[in-house]
Amino acid sequence: MKWKAALTLALKKTPRTATEFAALPKHVAIIMDGNGRWAKKHHLNVSKGHRQGTEALREIIRHTDDLGIRVLSLYAFSTENWNRSEEEVSALMQLMLDFFSSEIDELDAKNVRILILGDKGRLPEKQREVLKEAEKRTERNTGLRLNIAINYGGRAEIVKAAREIAVLVRNGALQADQITEETLSDHLYTRGQPDVDLLIRTSGEQRLSNFLLYQNAYAEFVFPEVLWPDFTVHEYDLALDAYAHRDRRYGGRK
Ligand code: FPP
Repeated sequence: MKWKAALTLALKKTPRTATEFAALPKHVAIIMDGNGRWAKKHHLNVSKGHRQGTEALREIIRHTDDLGIRVLSLYAFSTENWNRSEEEVSALMQLMLDFFSSEIDELDAKNVRILILGDKGRLPEKQREVLKEAEKRTERNTGLRLNIAINYGGRAEIVKAAREIAVLVRNGALQADQITEETLSDHLYTRGQPDVDLLIRTSGEQRLSNFLLYQNAYAEFVFPEVLWPDFTVHEYDLALDAYAHRDRRYGGRK
């Protein structure tokens, strides 16, 4: 009985195993929202909120890997986040360095493949190098695909794809009427990956905020009220369970 399984899950706070879900998504995308509000609630500087958010992130990556989910996409820094104070932007940039230096060995050992979504060009040189190095070091890994969106915007990603396809048409490598949905997918950062099945945005906000616009076409959305630094593995299991009980029809009928 569906409600009975959901109730058991809500009460038992131990991390779930893959077989305890009726269905698991292939691709989970997360908008990690609420770090600022968490910091305010605890009378702390916003950078402490982001630091605490990074702790939550480590646990969620581990659990995703343990469950055998194929792709995890995280929205770490949008193209609009440059509009925040210099202090907050530099705290986020420093956190990225700290995250990769402390996690890369474990991620690589676990066969995780890292891909940065977004334009690395505007990032400080040190960050650019660390991100490129993480991608290069893990490029042959075949386990969880970990996409981290940094200086990323969904519309900019689609514009980039359109430009690349236009060049192919101009050079005669492709006819305009040969362009399909797959052609566009193949020119996104996520080429070769399945579309998003489950999108989670924490903190109660219910917006996409320019995240993976093309890839989220048929995603199921779950919006937990909890602020990102308080998003535990248990909260994640509840979101995954909500997904498992959704009726996905892709516009058709059952
Ligand atoms: C949104 O919360 C969160 C961000 C803009 C940054 C998310 C980044 C991390 C969790 C850690 C850094 C990432 C890596 C890969 C190390 P908000 O600040 O907009 O929250 P608010 O809406 O409550 O102010």
